[in-house]
This record gives sequence, structure tokens and C-alpha cells, in this order.
Amino acid sequence: MKGKTAFITGGASGIGRALGEALAVRGATVILADRQIELAREVAAAICSNGGRAEARELDVRDASAFVALANDVAARHGGIDYFFNNAGIGVGGEMADYDRDAWDEVLDVNVRGVAYGIQAVYPIMRRQRRGHIINTASVAGLLPAPGLGSYAASKHAVVGLSKALRIEAAAFGVRVSALCPGVIRTPILTGGVFGRHVGRQLVEEQLRETMERMRPMEAAEFAVEVLEDVERDEPYIVVPRWWRAIWLVDRLFPRLGLWAFGRVHAKTLAAIDAHGVEASGREAPAPGVHA
Ligand SMILES: NC(=O)c1ccc[n+]([C@@H]2O[C@H](COP(=O)([O-])OP(=O)(O)OC[C@H]3O[C@@H](n4cnc5c(N)ncnc54)[C@H](O)[C@@H]3O)[C@@H](O)[C@H]2O)c1
Repeated sequence: MKGKTAFITGGASGIGRALGEALAVRGATVILADRQIELAREVAAAICSNGGRAEARELDVRDASAFVALANDVAARHGGIDYFFNNAGIGVGGEMADYDRDAWDEVLDVNVRGVAYGIQAVYPIMRRQRRGHIINTASVAGLLPAPGLGSYAASKHAVVGLSKALRIEAAAFGVRVSALCPGVIRTPILTGGVFGRHVGRQLVEEQLRETMERMRPMEAAEFAVEVLEDVERDEPYIVVPRWWRAIWLVDRLFPRLGLWAFGRVHAKTLAAIDAHGVEASGREAPAPGVHA
């Protein structure tokens, strides 16, 4: 990865940040694109002070024109783009009965349209180069049932679907494509993140944390190391922590068993919410989609 250029959306925090740090250690120049530009600048500065090469760029992935302009600028200044981590994402939790239109649009705008705009911006550059690797961040929620996360699951199934199609199309141009499906990784998104929220009743914060801990979250730095190994192997589906692959396999072999098992987990969550839940705090919704 030495001497390569990696463009990472959502690079200011969590998974994007950890990937940026790990890529920089391996000698890549990393471009951290994020809505949280101040945070992205701090991360880039820390990478540089450790001897790496990084820069922060402001980007809202919902702005298609800005995406194209930034990708072209990065390619022009760095002689191309070798890795594109199409990673920015948000979560809106809650049962679908409690969703309003905004709850759908917020997630689909960032997690689906934002990813599609990223492909529109970077894929033509990689086709011209006849090289490059696009890694679209989906989730195990894009492979498995995810009750209580309906719009998020829909968005991540979409990312898996478009990645499969693009992998086949792009091979003819020497461009690689992978769907990155993280399990539970310890990042701010687990408790809503800056731009995510919850609708309807939810677990109190302490319970939410306990529930997440039971799912054995992986540290983001450890996660990034395993992901980069799979990127180098050109894995089509990068599922980390790897034990989630066993759950995915069982769900594919026995789909009704998968629905039953995730149904049991959901029933327990609902019971806990009934006993101790609170109305979601109504965190301010992010700005509406830009659709430029
Ligand atoms: N952490 C997990 O357990 C987990 C599991 C599965 C999938 N994922 C996916 O991994 C990706 C990264 O999430 P994370 O866990 O690092 O969370 P995070 O909240 O730490 O990072 C998300 C980053 O995306 C940025 N972002 C959000 N909306 C944006 C927009 N419109 N334009 C530009 N940047 C925007 C945020 O500012 C933030 O820096 C997401 O796509 C998420 O859905 C995370």
C-alpha cells in the first residue's frame, strides 16, 4: 500500500478514521473526507505528526457535484486514486411503525444515495486509470435480518446489492469492488453517532451500552488491520469480526432459523424497552438531502 492514494469518506471518526490511520502506517497517502471537517483535520494532523501523509477535506456525501469535484481534485493532485473507501454512513434506529418519512430519507440519502454518488464520482476515474479498488461499507445488517433497524438494513442490503453488480461490471476495466460488512465495531455510531437518531421508545443509555457490549464490539484499530488484509486479498465480501461469517452462513443455509433467532433477540429487546425504555430524545435531525 506504500505510495498509494486512499480516499475515505466518513474519515473523521470510527471505522473511516481507523482505516486512515492503518493505511498511513502502511505508507499510503490518505484523504479524509467528512462533514465533520474540524475532526477530520485533527485526525489528519495526528497522522502527519506520526510520520504519515494525510489531508482532511470537507464533504457532505449527499452533494453529488461536490463529490465529483473533490474526487477529480484528489486524482489530479495525487496522480489517481488507488483505494476508495465509500464509508460515510448514519443509523436511525426504531421500529418501522414509528418511522416518518424523514426517518427513511435521512438514512437512504446518506447510506444509499451518498454511496451511489461516490461511485459516480470515483469509478470513472478508476476506469480511466484501469486500476483501483472501491470498498463500499455495508454492514452485517446488509446480510442478515435486523429488526429495529429497518431503514438501516434496507440501505445496507442496497449497498451489498450494488457492490455485487459493480464488482462484475468493473472487472472488465481492472477495477476491484468489495462490500465491507462490519459486525459490531466500537465507534460513536453504536450510541447514535453525531448525525444518527432513534425514533419511538428505546432502551435507556446504560441498557443500550450493555446490549452493545453483549455483542462483543471489536476495537476499530484491530478491525482496520483485518479489513486491510482482506482488501489486499481482493475479498468480495469483507466480514469482520470473522465469526459473523458463521452466522451469515447459518442464515443462508437455514433462513427460517435466522429469522427465528433474530426474532428472539428482538423480543428480548422489546421486553426491556417495555420495562425500562424511554421516548427517544429527539436529537435534532440532520439537514435534508442535497441531491445536487
Ligand atoms: N460501528 C459499527 O458497528 C458498524 C457496523 C456496521 C456498519 N458500520 C458502517 O460503518 C460506516 C462508518 O461508521 P462508524 O461506525 O465509523 O460511525 P461513526 O459515526 O464513527 O463515523 C461515521 C462518519 O461518517 C460521517 N458522515 C455522516 N454523514 C455524512 C455525510 N452526509 N457526509 C460526509 N460524512 C458523513 C460522520 O461525520 C462520521 O465521521 C458507516 O457506513 C456505518 O453504517 C458500522
